Amino acid sequence: MKASTAAVLALSLATATQAVRAQDTAALMSETRKTATPVLPKVVQAMQTAVQEQGPVAAISICKEQAPQLLQEMRQQTGWAIRRVSLKARNATTGTPDAWEARQLAEFNIQAANGAELQHLEVGEIVVTDNGQRQFRYMKALPAIAVCQTCHGPADSLPPELRAALAKDYPHDRATGYVAGEIRGALSVTRPL
Ligand code: HEC
Repeated sequence: MKASTAAVLALSLATATQAVRAQDTAALMSETRKTATPVLPKVVQAMQTAVQEQGPVAAISICKEQAPQLLQEMRQQTGWAIRRVSLKARNATTGTPDAWEARQLAEFNIQAANGAELQHLEVGEIVVTDNGQRQFRYMKALPAIAVCQTCHGPADSLPPELRAALAKDYPHDRATGYVAGEIRGALSVTRPL
């Protein structure tokens, strides 16, 4: 076979492999989105009701207990790793991103700064871990909409009793200072393949 023919063949094989991967990724993405994201508007709704009806201090339990509980149930149902992460975590133990997540969060921030529609920012990718395991990784941005700023807005805008309650539980809180149009964090899903 002539070298040029071999090169063309190699190229078309690579393109075919890429096309299969793109198809895989699209299917995994849509399944992951369908399974993992319906919980998000439910949490926002619960948060809005709690802030309105019980005030911000009582509403802390939505972000602190209810949201993690719903994700825990989903982890049990699916066997996937599902969590919330942020570049400026309030709960550093559970919310600190790994390298892949931190890169996607930075990319979301760039897209947000360029006027992307925050509600639709998401990413999905098949990755191979250091020990050779294939995974599908998915992230969806969580925009800092108005209600989030009650507890994640500029620190001096938070009512004193709320600031005191947060300082007690989170002495190393980095999750304040957010304004509308920014990304608070993301829902992150890792599926072994
Ligand atoms: C009533 C106060 C309150 C409101 C309102 C609130 N949060 Fe939170 N948020 C918290 C607390 C407290 C934590 C830490 C939870 C924990 O210990 O796991 C937190 C944690 C998070 C985390 C996990 C990462 C981290 O920083 O630890 C994300 C993501 C998040 N909030 C997003 C949001 C979004 C998006 C909104 C608006 C829809 C919102 N929050 C509204 C109090 C609040």
